Amino acid sequence: MQALVTGGAGFIGSNIVDSLVDGGHHVRVLDDLSTGYAENVNAEAELLVGEVVDADLVARAVEGAEVVFHQAAHRAVLRSVEQPLATDHANVHGTLTVLKAAADAGVRRVVYASSSSVYGGADRLPTPESAPTWPRSPYAVTKLTGEHYCRVFAELYGVETVAMRYFNVYGPRQRPDSAYAAVIPLFIEALRQGVPARVHGDGKQSRDFTFIDDVVAANLAAASAPAERCSGNAYNIAGGCAYSLLDMLAILGDILDVEWQTDHGDPRPGDVRHTRADISAARNDLGHDPEVDFADGLARTVAWFTHR
Ligand SMILES: NC(=O)c1ccc[n+]([C@@H]2O[C@H](COP(=O)([O-])OP(=O)(O)OC[C@H]3O[C@@H](n4cnc5c(N)ncnc54)[C@H](O)[C@@H]3O)[C@@H](O)[C@H]2O)c1
Repeated sequence: MQALVTGGAGFIGSNIVDSLVDGGHHVRVLDDLSTGYAENVNAEAELLVGEVVDADLVARAVEGAEVVFHQAAHRAVLRSVEQPLATDHANVHGTLTVLKAAADAGVRRVVYASSSSVYGGADRLPTPESAPTWPRSPYAVTKLTGEHYCRVFAELYGVETVAMRYFNVYGPRQRPDSAYAAVIPLFIEALRQGVPARVHGDGKQSRDFTFIDDVVAANLAAASAPAERCSGNAYNIAGGCAYSLLDMLAILGDILDVEWQTDHGDPRPGDVRHTRADISAARNDLGHDPEVDFADGLARTVAWFTHR
């Protein structure tokens, strides 16, 4: 198959590209290298440098593609609060540009990177996709708007779409500045240096962490699942278990074989206390089940941060 991965120089996109190339597929990447790195892009893939809002460039990028994995986005929540127009332009107009080009070019399916932030801290845990959405940042609004465009394109424009609500993705190539997953490299560094790990609040806040290989597998499953089951839908993509920051420290302490201490600061304003996804819809409709447990994923992440 021929595939386009937008954002294929970034953390998640570049891992999807590697897996597609390994599977013998022809891969094109469209990335403006704003937060991604050209050296992340597999040498077998074709790299087009530019923005997803550039309609002419996107039209070239989708040419001949059967599936588009649309990962490119401004994904910093804080930046979206400071620069909502820029985030909206890249994420909403960019997604619309990709969908329109895909429909015009006869692309079979677009798999869209959405986010658990669309829930804005759901009351119901584990959270099913039917839970109310309540975005609490411009970033989250753009991700939800992209989902609506995906559904509308599936209904009106003849292109199949599947939206993936990722929950806290972590693993090799993750950027150290992404919220929450970022604590992993920070904790690893603190434990290796023997200094107390800085924890906001009591450390009992928990997240459903998702290992990158499972996110890649979910994308591949979403590319091939039967359209009548999944097209136009949004799915939680998560590990399906929640771990607190203190749980994470304990596991990292075991992996690195060190004693650890914490230094507690104020809770972060607006921080959601717990997230945990109901992942049964992805299991039923996409045939996707996460395989990497948290301790294993953390061990692989420690190894990557140690040896890069
Ligand atoms: N990492 C997570 O935990 C997480 C959670 C939920 C959703 N997501 C979503 O997953 C996707 C990938 O995120 P990531 O963590 O790999 O981030 P990342 O920043 O590593 O990757 C994003 C990539 O998109 C590129 N890009 C950004 N704006 C672009 C534009 N306008 N045109 C072309 N390329 C552009 C960047 O250069 C980068 O390579 C994003 O859509 C993000 O919103 C990520």
